[in-house]
Formats: sequence, structure tokens, C-alpha cells
Amino acid sequence: MKEVLAIQKEHYFLCALILDIKRTVKRRKVDYIVLKEKLARFYDFWKKHEKREESLLRKFNSLGKPFPTEMAILDEHRQLRGHWHIIQESIDSGDNFSIKLAFDTDGAMFIEKLMKHIELENNFFKTIDS
Ligand SMILES: [Fe+2]
Ligand SMILES: [Fe+2]
Repeated sequence: MKEVLAIQKEHYFLCALILDIKRTVKRRKVDYIVLKEKLARFYDFWKKHEKREESLLRKFNSLGKPFPTEMAILDEHRQLRGHWHIIQESIDSGDNFSIKLAFDTDGAMFIEKLMKHIELENNFFKTIDS
């Protein structure tokens, strides 16, 4: 299915963006202007991606397809948004120390959860697409 393929392609792009952000944060001297730009780009893409995903889930639901992991996916979206909210608050504070701290805590959790989340979704979409 075309929509499923598009979602899977977007997962590759999200992984590439997040790995790039990870590298930017790990530098000895973090360029916070560049970091903020990369985070804004990631957030914009990720937000649209999840919207598309959720509408795809609703579409499958309306077709009466079985959805064993639908609730887990939606719940993980909520959890990820929670971590992102902390990161966003640190960015809005304009304080580089707060940004670094948020990255070491919620940022690390966000990245770990996002990677597992993408794996769950890819496995899930594989089963419903066949
Ligand atoms: Fe998702
Ligand atoms: Fe996704």
C-alpha cells in the first residue's frame, strides 16, 4: 500500500535526522543555533509524520482491519510528545545549560523510545500491508 510505504520511508528520514541531532549534541562545543534549527526541522517533520500515521490507523480501523498494536502506538505518541515538551521548554528558556540537561535526560529517553517506536510501527505495518 502506497501510504504504508511512504510512512516507512519517512522512518528512515526521521532516523537520519535524529542521528544527526545526536552527533550535534555530542560535540565538545555545541553550536546551539545549529542545534535549534535541526530540532525545529525534526519537530516539523515528525509532527506531520505522526498526524499521517494516526489518520492511517483510523483509515484501517474504518476498514475493519484488526489492530492489536494500535493503542500501543497511540500511547507511545503521547509519551514521545511528553518528552518533546520538556526539550521544547528548555529550548524556549534560551538557556544552553538547560538545553544540554534536557538532552541528557528527556532527549536520551526520547531517542531511545523513538527508535523502538519506529521498529514497532515498521513491524506492525508489515503485518497489515501483506
Ligand atoms: Fe509513530
Ligand atoms: Fe512513525
